[in-house]
Amino acid sequence: MIADHLPAALMLLLLFDDLSADMGTTPNLKQIVLGRCFSYVTLISPGSRYNCEEIWREFRNAVIQRAPCNVRVKDYSRMFHASPQALPCDTLLFWSKTREFVHSYSAITRRFCTLEDTLVGYMFNDLIWCGQKEKHRGFDFISCPEWSTCANHPVYSLWKQASQNFAASACGNITVILNGSMENAFNRTSMFGSVELDGLNPRMVNHVNIKVVANLEGPIIDSCTKGSILNLIQILKTRGFRWTCTDTDMTLLILQCIQNPRQLSCQIFHNNML
Ligand SMILES: *[C@@H]1O[C@H](CO)[C@@H](O)[C@H](O)[C@H]1NC(C)=O
Ligand SMILES: *[C@@H]1O[C@H](CO)[C@@H](O)[C@H](O)[C@H]1NC(C)=O
Ligand SMILES: *[C@@H]1O[C@H](CO)[C@@H](O)[C@H](O)[C@H]1NC(C)=O
Repeated sequence: MIADHLPAALMLLLLFDDLSADMGTTPNLKQIVLGRCFSYVTLISPGSRYNCEEIWREFRNAVIQRAPCNVRVKDYSRMFHASPQALPCDTLLFWSKTREFVHSYSAITRRFCTLEDTLVGYMFNDLIWCGQKEKHRGFDFISCPEWSTCANHPVYSLWKQASQNFAASACGNITVILNGSMENAFNRTSMFGSVELDGLNPRMVNHVNIKVVANLEGPIIDSCTKGSILNLIQILKTRGFRWTCTDTDMTLLILQCIQNPRQLSCQIFHNNML
């Protein structure tokens, strides 16, 4: 009834919203994953020796031999074994609740390496996949379970292992960018708080450089001296890490202002650069 009066565009939106609640495996998964892998080894990191077909095969086996809610972290071990990667010291960039922003930052500065810049992160970024209830029948392109309803969700398990490997390989300085406009910018149950933080090795990591970025229009909920970031600092201290924390990083502010030049807090830059 109500729907009769809604403009078509809105109807479509509602429809897609409904679909996204219960999406299946990303269409053309194999072509996308293989294509990204070849793109990575050919263009992004030429000279690297990976067997993309083998990585795909091990990935596929891990997923389709099991029920959709039962793909454990260790089921991907052969896939990760086929895609080992050493990452340069002083470049790793971690994030939590700042994903889009961090990827702009990383693209502009070209100094950092995020999880999504690693081979596995690059291959599987933004994709969804799951097998079918009856095993060996291939991927389920109609629907996949939500993360929260699964003991061992195939997408979650892969990212968990990828995050663990990423953190374990960190050396020199690392950077983590957290969202100061969130309650619990540092959240012990997020991927950073639960997997990556525990995976860092204090003997290999020199400094953990924390950067807190809040929305220009506020609110400022957490900062280096307030809220959950203090818990993070406490954990770092206890585990013997050296650390720094800033909530006034000029590069981050400039980037925010480029994306949003009309903000009041960006007027210091007017007539100068924007
Ligand atoms: C911080 O979180 C808020 C609320 O989810 C979001 O709108 C904002 O884009 C995030 N900030 C950054 C820098 O990612
Ligand atoms: C590592 O971080 C510390 C503290 O921010 C800084 O003084 C030092 O110059 C950094 N070293 C490198 C190699 O980036
Ligand atoms: C922490 O993160 C988890 C997982 O993302 C979320 O479900 C939970 O609500 C967050 N907790 C707080 C206190 O913000």
